[in-house]
Amino acid sequence: MKFFIDTANLAQIKEACDLGVLDGVTTNPSLMAKEGIKGIKNQHQHYIDICRLVQGDVSAEVIATDYEGMIREGEELAALNEHIVVKIPCIADGIKAIKYFTSKGIRTNCTLVFSAGQALLAAKVGATYVSPFVGRLDDVCNDGIGLVARIVEMYRAYNFKTQVLAASIRHTQHIIQCAEVGADVVTCPLSAIKGLLNHPLTDAGLAKFLADYQKTNG
Ligand code: G3P
Repeated sequence: MKFFIDTANLAQIKEACDLGVLDGVTTNPSLMAKEGIKGIKNQHQHYIDICRLVQGDVSAEVIATDYEGMIREGEELAALNEHIVVKIPCIADGIKAIKYFTSKGIRTNCTLVFSAGQALLAAKVGATYVSPFVGRLDDVCNDGIGLVARIVEMYRAYNFKTQVLAASIRHTQHIIQCAEVGADVVTCPLSAIKGLLNHPLTDAGLAKFLADYQKTNG
């Protein structure tokens, strides 16, 4: 399973990269806004800066919601760097735009996916990634991980090439569950990635080893 980080924060991307586990980055308009990056020029530069940090796929989302606008923005984004994946919302014009980008060899991430039906359409038009939102489904008493599992099973049955990128990951248990149901990629906040390391028995065991070493070598 590939690990992506779900942020536009350069320091966090670098920290995850330095840990040696990072395969890519996903961003969205909310995450870009959080970094306070204003204006198209600066936003494009920020995507380029992210691409320089991580040698992996970087999802950059279009703002337009109409077909022509998505094509225009997506082509601009894709031209920024070879690692850019154009992120497109799962709406009718978005599906049409993904079909266009597939025909042009431009990679896409179909986002805001909350049902197996939406994931089926994304795969039909050749999306590179599909992003089911696990946490947001859980927030409304739905089964986010269950949806990831259904999509994985459905894609396997028909040998769809679209990769299942589990998004809206909130904690370490989501990451483990995604791995258990066979997600291709999980995109998570840095805190969830680092949380995988935590275990009190590791800390206690290390403290004891060091204390015993000090007794004889002190
Ligand atoms: O990038 C989309 C997704 O990961 C959003 O997560 O936590 O805002 O639901 P969240």
